[in-house]
Order: sequence, then structure tokens, then C-alpha cells
Amino acid sequence: MSTALIILAAGKGTRMESDLPKVLHKIGGAPLLHHAMLSASALEPDRTVIVTGHGAETVEAAAQAFDPDAIAVRQHEQLGTAHAVAQAREVLDGFRGDVIVLYGDTPFITTETLEQMIAARAAHDVVVLGFEAADPGRYGRLIMDGSKLARIVEFKDATEEERAVTLCNSGVICADTGTLFELIEAVGNDNASGEYYLPDIVGIANARGLSATAVTCDEAETLGINSRAELAAAEALFQQARRRALIEDGVMMQAPDTVFLSFDTIIGRDAEIEPNVVFAPGVTVESGARIRAFSHLEGAHVSRGAIVGPFARLRPGAELAEDVHIGNFVEIKNASIDEGAKVNHLTYIGDADVGARTNIGAGTITCNYDGVMKHRTTIGRDTFIGSNTMLVAPVTVGKEAMTATATVVTKDVPDGAMAIARTEQTNKQGFARKLFSMLRAKKAKQAKG
Ligand code: UD1
Ligand code: MG
Repeated sequence: MSTALIILAAGKGTRMESDLPKVLHKIGGAPLLHHAMLSASALEPDRTVIVTGHGAETVEAAAQAFDPDAIAVRQHEQLGTAHAVAQAREVLDGFRGDVIVLYGDTPFITTETLEQMIAARAAHDVVVLGFEAADPGRYGRLIMDGSKLARIVEFKDATEEERAVTLCNSGVICADTGTLFELIEAVGNDNASGEYYLPDIVGIANARGLSATAVTCDEAETLGINSRAELAAAEALFQQARRRALIEDGVMMQAPDTVFLSFDTIIGRDAEIEPNVVFAPGVTVESGARIRAFSHLEGAHVSRGAIVGPFARLRPGAELAEDVHIGNFVEIKNASIDEGAKVNHLTYIGDADVGARTNIGAGTITCNYDGVMKHRTTIGRDTFIGSNTMLVAPVTVGKEAMTATATVVTKDVPDGAMAIARTEQTNKQGFARKLFSMLRAKKAKQAKG
């Protein structure tokens, strides 16, 4: 059975107090819109349509960054959710199968819930996702008739009796594509808001002898984001859920509340994550690796047995092989560090390849940027880079080679060679004592005057 998705993302999100369109605000490092697309992606939708309006261009670019085949349609005036869905009609012309309508600002709907809705379609023409609300507030209310859904009434249009109903509309709807657009055509705007309400299709379906039902899910799944406070609360819920899932999968965390994860963070069983570690998007940590306190990782891969931190920074393209050690105040960017190599203190390795078992001394810097372009540094296996070596890229240091402390490497170093490039030391006898007494006398004079 083919499935299409329509994701509504035209609303302004006034209460976010932001220039960024609401659906582009992030949770776990990914825009709200991506979360909605991600939960539906397991259904392998044949078409995904995003309805945009406010900030259309940036929203469309974000949708296509997630799924290059996503189709964007514009809703120039926000006349209501039914009007928004109607904008997708043309691009879904001729599509046969079910369509699921989601909101771009509702990030936590699970794939399982969507699958339940599709299953319920076997016996009903229209399936709505409902939830028991602790505080039903201004949600639309589901008016049931036994196991059938009779209609949905918006809060503004509801009677006192209807407002007492606690079964609420999440906004997610599933129906056959042809049926959905036929029903939408009959939706009017004669209501308290003067808007075209998508939920009205339920009453219309029943009046036409079609059937509707509700599938329910946990209220937490239907959480929508309307303000910065709700965004922060949703982030907290997301973090809790991700930490719990990783711990259940065998990851060791001493202080889980201080570990921040992204939507795509992968951590293997028996890996240890110390307190205060941030995983920005794109990180994979293999089984048995150890990420020590106060480290920040993004777009990096850490292999089995590697130790990172404390106070380390792995930037995009950091590729650490097995048993690599990255120590304090070390930054690795777009660089591969081979098996057993050590970069233990105060070092920047960028745009580089470091061979197996090579030791990089404290304070080493790959000078990868000439102010205009980036260049690569290559270091062979079993090499010793002395402390405070400057590697002026592009440059290659061979295998089993050495650089002397404080060497500025501007030429390639052959295999097995030692490079030394620094001025020779001279000792001026008695000079330090003389200088100290001069300076002390000067200070004493200043104190008096
Ligand atoms: C809607 C439902 C309500 C439900 C609630 C759940 C309607 C009429 N009401 O109300 O039953 O309980 O969601 O959160 O559908 N949008 C557009 N174009 C528009 C209008 C809205 O793209 O013209 C988008 C918004 O960006 C948003 C979503 O549709 O993502 C829902 O719109 P919103 O205005 O938040 O609807 P609610 O009043 O919350
Ligand atoms: Mg809303």
C-alpha cells in the first residue's frame, strides 16, 4: 500500500518571538520539521509534501536537506488547516493510496502510532489520532459514538458539555488520498474562527455514510511547540528519553542528566560517558570507548577502546581508530588518527592523517590554514612529534620519524629522519642575576616616588 505524507508548516509561530520559522527550531540538534519527517520515514512514504507559508524558502530548503525528493507547496494565506492540506491536492493528483497529515511543529509522534493508524484504516475511511488530555485546554474535542468517531469540535465552537470531553484531537489524520480531498472540498469556514478546519472532514465523512475512528496515543507524543518555554521543555523530555534508551542499551553514564545527546547519536554497549559531555549531531561511539568529562563531540567517530578527554573537542570529520587517546585541551578536525596513536595535551590536529602508534607531543599544531585555503598534514606510523611542533601544511612527516621540540616543519620529513628547526641556544653568564637586580631597583624607586 502506498503512503503519502502532508506536513503542515505554514504557520507563523508568533509566540516563539523569533525570526527563524518555528519548525526550524531544534530539538536534539535537528529542526522540529526533521523530527516529524523522521517519525514518518520508517513508513517509507512514496511522496512527502510540505505545506509552507511563513519563511517558506528556508523551510523548503530544510525539508529538502532531509529528503531531496520532498515536494514543497505554498499556502500564501493561512486560512486554516483544511485550506493548508488542500494546497497539496495538485501535487498528489493521480496518487493512489493513503495520506497522513502531520504538523511540522509536533516532533514526538512515533512510527508505531502512525502504523496503528494505518492498520485502523482497514476498517475505517478516516482515522484520527486522539489522546486523553490531562488539561484539555483549547484542543479540539473528539466526539465519539461508541467505537466510532462522530465529529470533532473545536474548543471555540464547543458547548459546555463538549468542552467537558477530555479526549482531544492531536491533528494527525489518515485517509485515502481521493477521499481526503473530496471531503476537504466540502469544508466551510462558518465557525468561530472563520477558518477552514481540517477536523471538520470527520463530521462530513459520517454524513456521507463513510466511517471514522480514533486511535489514541500518549499525550507526550502529541506535544506541539508554540513558545521558547515549550521548546525547552520538549528538549528536556527528548534528552531524558534518549539517555534512558542508551542506558537501557548498556551505555554507562554516571551523571546522565549532564550528558546532552543529538537525535542521531549512536553509542555502543559498555561505552562509558563521564559527566558533562555534549554530543552534537553526527557522532558514533563504539562499544567500550570512553568519553571523559567536559568533552564536546560533533560529526566524529570514536572506535572501540579509544579514550577522549577530559576537555577534548572532536569536530566534524574526526575519525579515531581503536585505542587512540585524545587528551585534555586537544581539538581534532577533519582528521584520521590511526590505531593506538596518542594526542594527549593542548594540541590542534586539523586536516590531517596521523599514523598508527604515533605520539603527538603537547602543544603541537597543524598549521592548516594560510588565510585563504586549507592544507593537509600527513604523519606516518610510529613517529614521534616533539612538543610544540608547528607543522606548516601541506607537509608530510614519514613513518618512524621524529621532530625535535619546538620545530617548525616547513619541508617534508623522510621516513626514519629527525627534523630539527630552531635557533641554537646561547647562555649569557650571570646575565639573569644582573637583570633581576636592575628590575628590582627600578620597582623600589617607583614605589617611593
Ligand atoms: C489544531 C486543530 C485542533 C487540535 C490542535 C492540536 C484545527 C482547526 N484544529 O488546532 O483540533 O486539537 O491542532 O494541536 O485543525 N497550519 C498551516 N496553515 C494554516 C493553519 C495552520 O499550515 O492555515 C499549520 C500550523 O503551522 C500548525 C498546524 O497547521 O503546524 C496546526 O495549526 P494551529 O493553528 O496550531 O491549530 P490549532 O489551533 O492548534
Ligand atoms: Mg496549535
